[in-house]
Amino acid sequence: MLLDLIAARRVVFVGGKGGTGKTSIAAALALGRAGAGARVLLVSTDPAHNLGHLWDRPVGDAPVRLAAPGAPRGRAGAAGYVDGLEIDPEHTVEQHLSAVAATMRRLLPERMHAPAARHLELARQAPGTHESAVLERIAEAVELGAEAYDLVVFDTAPSGHTLRLLTLPEQLTSWTETLLANRDRSERFGAAVRGLGGGAETDRDAELRRMLVRRRNRFSRLREAVTDREQTGFVVVLTAEPLPVAETVEVYGKLTGLGVDVAALVANRRSPADAGELLARRRRQEDGHLVRLRRQIPDVPLLDVPLLPGDLVGAEALARLAGRLGASSPGDSG
Ligand SMILES: Nc1ncnc2c1ncn2[C@@H]1O[C@H](COP(=O)(O)OP(=O)(O)O)[C@@H](O)[C@H]1O
Ligand SMILES: [Mg+2]
Repeated sequence: MLLDLIAARRVVFVGGKGGTGKTSIAAALALGRAGAGARVLLVSTDPAHNLGHLWDRPVGDAPVRLAAPGAPRGRAGAAGYVDGLEIDPEHTVEQHLSAVAATMRRLLPERMHAPAARHLELARQAPGTHESAVLERIAEAVELGAEAYDLVVFDTAPSGHTLRLLTLPEQLTSWTETLLANRDRSERFGAAVRGLGGGAETDRDAELRRMLVRRRNRFSRLREAVTDREQTGFVVVLTAEPLPVAETVEVYGKLTGLGVDVAALVANRRSPADAGELLARRRRQEDGHLVRLRRQIPDVPLLDVPLLPGDLVGAEALARLAGRLGASSPGDSG
């Protein structure tokens, strides 16, 4: 069952097409693991946040306690809990840019302040700024998870966006690499132009260089963590319909290509076979789609989660959903 499949992981990404149930499944997984005694950090990276709505309490840019199911029976001392956090990209970009601006003002001579400020203003609008800010926060959450939690569950944005993020560490690393190379050139250039080249200039260069190296190291650590198949797994949520199935196959191919382990596929909101003819017919149609999915992805566990009655809001409803992260699909071989 899904909870067992991820029990040994430290980082789980929950992804898939929009509206299939990523946020609900991510929250239920977090709650399920917390119920087994794990300290869980649940992180939303979807700009359309809804952790707060789902847990019926305000969730923001810093972790807040969402649930503390307590110690499981027979395991005294291990009291699990779920903390939640919604990454706010705008806020992150602002914070990041103002930190960089402060460093630039400190490090650059006065006459460079205006061009530097213009440069930063452009950077705010540049493609990739947003993503790299989110990625930096994802890296931070993985680091925080390694220190203070047993598991980090990411409720991600719809598939395409997340895949772009997961490929970014490499792009950003080489981008940092390029900057470092430019820096190397300009250090020599600067030293030549300055002639006497005061000691202070050299210190500034060294500090800029350290900043870039820190960033590079952080992204390469993230890349290592994400592709560590023992520690990190991706759960793809879908509904048993043509488009989500097609997207799942595509996402699976891309993740596998990136070296990311797909731990499980979750067919969510499965129609019941025994609740009238309409739903029974839907059920048969869904079975057909899942059999096709199975043919294309034969060896990843495929799990069913039934369509539940009522609104999925609040810890009690989520606990009910967590209790259903068990049954395996008829299309599933293992
Ligand atoms: N197993 C389920 N049974 C019934 N409703 C569900 C189930 N899973 C999700 N939902 C509902 O489906 C809608 C979309 O779920 P959500 O988790 O927000 O999807 P996503 O995060 O992928 O956009 C929500 O209204 C949610 O309550
Ligand atoms: Mg969502």
